[in-house]
Amino acid sequence: MWYSILRVGDGEIDRQHMNIDAYLRQIGDKYQDPTEIVVKTIDALISHFKSEEDHCENKNYNMSQDHKNEHLRLKEKLTEIKMHVATKQLDQFIAAYTIKGILYEHIHNSYQIL
Ligand SMILES: [Fe+2]
Ligand SMILES: [Fe+2]
Repeated sequence: MWYSILRVGDGEIDRQHMNIDAYLRQIGDKYQDPTEIVVKTIDALISHFKSEEDHCENKNYNMSQDHKNEHLRLKEKLTEIKMHVATKQLDQFIAAYTIKGILYEHIHNSYQIL
């Protein structure tokens, strides 16, 4: 578990975090193309950030500006990783390891207020 290692206490957000972890677990599955899974994981994550922000707004949760800024920063970083993986300049397993670390850090640093 990486993104879902801590529950934030909202069912929808926790479900989306578990879904991202499910993608990450598929990297290394010998029947799947790891490049494709990394790209799909990053696409799912970027759409999750937006969905999380919209959900918090709808539920009147007070998502901090720092949390939103962190989404922007991670989006740029993940887009860069995706490009390097897609053009074979970055190993998919190193990319997956980096993504897991990013999410582990994000869940510990950005969700105290939810
Ligand atoms: Fe999230
Ligand atoms: Fe977040």
